[in-house]
Amino acid sequence: MNGSAQSQEWLTFLEEIVVEGRLIQVIFSSPRRKDEDIARKLTVRPIKLKNGLFYQFERHHLNKVFHENVAAEELKDQLQLTMERYKQALFKTPDADIQILANKKGGLSLLTQAKATKREAVPQEHNRNKSYVLPDGEAVPFLIALGVMTAEGRVVKAKYDKFRQINRFLEMVSDVISELPRGKRLNIVDFGCGKSYLTFALYHLLAIKEQLPVRIIGLDLKKDVIETCSKLAAELKWDDLVFSVGDISDYEGDTSIDMVVTLHACDTATDAALLKAISWESSVILSVPCCQHELFRQINQPLLKPLLKHGILKERFSALVTDAIRANLLELAGYRTQLLEFIDLEHTPKNILIRAVKSEKINTAEIKGEYEQFRDFLGVLPYMEREKG
Ligand SMILES: C[S@@+](CC[C@H](N)C(=O)[O-])C[C@H]1O[C@@H](n2cnc3c(N)ncnc32)[C@H](O)[C@@H]1O
Repeated sequence: MNGSAQSQEWLTFLEEIVVEGRLIQVIFSSPRRKDEDIARKLTVRPIKLKNGLFYQFERHHLNKVFHENVAAEELKDQLQLTMERYKQALFKTPDADIQILANKKGGLSLLTQAKATKREAVPQEHNRNKSYVLPDGEAVPFLIALGVMTAEGRVVKAKYDKFRQINRFLEMVSDVISELPRGKRLNIVDFGCGKSYLTFALYHLLAIKEQLPVRIIGLDLKKDVIETCSKLAAELKWDDLVFSVGDISDYEGDTSIDMVVTLHACDTATDAALLKAISWESSVILSVPCCQHELFRQINQPLLKPLLKHGILKERFSALVTDAIRANLLELAGYRTQLLEFIDLEHTPKNILIRAVKSEKINTAEIKGEYEQFRDFLGVLPYMEREKG
C-alpha cells in the first residue's frame, strides 16, 4: 500500500467512526518529534456535558495532566491533526481495536483486531461523581441535615451549585486516595472549614464509603459555626469528625497530619495552611485559595506598568502570581503540584484548586532558579517565604 492509499484508508476510517459515533477511546503514543511541547501520551474519550457531546483530549506532559474538551463537529479534524504528531494510535470501538501505525514517510497503516464481545459505546458523564460519589436521588444523611437534599434524597434546587461543588471536590479527593498512607489511621485537617459542607463530604467519602480509618479535624476562627458543626457531627454519630476554634497559624494540635485541606480560606490563611502542611510533610494537600490581597500591595515592576496601572487587572494578575508562587514553593518543598479547575467559572471566580502530592522525584534545582527570577522580577516577598520557620 503506498502513502496516499494509506492516508485514504485512514481518512475513510476516521470519517466512519466519527460519523457513526463509535469511538470509545483513542490512545496516541510515540510522538514523531522529540519536541518539548508534545505530550508523550494523549488520550481521547467521549464525555457528556450539559451542553451536549464532547470529546476530552487528555495530555500527559511533564508529570502533569491537561484537559481540553473538543466539540463533536471538530473531532475529525482534531484527530487528523493529532495523528500527524504521533507514530501510533489505538482506536477502541465497540467491536474492534484498530492500531494505526505511521511509517517514516508519514504513511499510515491500519491493523484491525475484532473483539469477541461487543463493548458499550456510551459516553461517560463528565462529572463522574454525579452518578458515583453522591448521586442525586440517593438520600445522604449529612446532605439532608445541611439542607442540600430533601428527606427523599432530591437535591434542593437552590443548593444545586453547592451539590456540584461537593461532588467535584470528592472527585478530586478520589483521585488522590491512593497517595495516602495505608495501615494506619489517617489524620486530616480542614483549615478554615466554615460551615463544613466539604468537611462532612470528605468524612462521608473516606470513613463511610471507603471505610478507611480516619480522623478529621475542622478548624475555624468562628465559634458559632464550630458549635453548629460539632452538633451535627454528634447527631450523625461521626465520632472521628471533630471541630475546633482556632487560628490556622497558631494551630499546634498535631505533629503528624497526612492530608491538609484548605478551601477558600481568606488571603494569607491559605499560605499559613500550606506552611503547616509542608512542616508536617503531609502526603496530600488540597487548597482552593481566595481573596489573594497580599501581593497586590507588593508587586512592583515598572515594565508591567501598562498592566498594573489598571486596578482590576492588577488584582487578577496578583491573584495569579500568588497561586503561581504557592505552586512553585510547594514544588520546591518536594510536592508534585497541579492547578486544576475546581468548578466552572460561571459558578465562582475562585475556581483554582491546588493539588499537591508529596513526591521523591522533584528536580528542585531547575525550579529554584526560575522561581527566584520570577519572584525578584516582580519585587515580592511572599508570606510562605517570610513566615517559613
Ligand atoms: C469562605 S469560608 C470557606 C469555608 C469552607 N472551607 C468552604 O470552602 O466552603 C472561609 C473560612 O475560613 C475561615 N478562616 C479565615 N482565616 C482563618 C484563619 N486564619 N484561621 C482559621 N480559619 C480562618 C473563616 O472564618 C471562614 O469560615
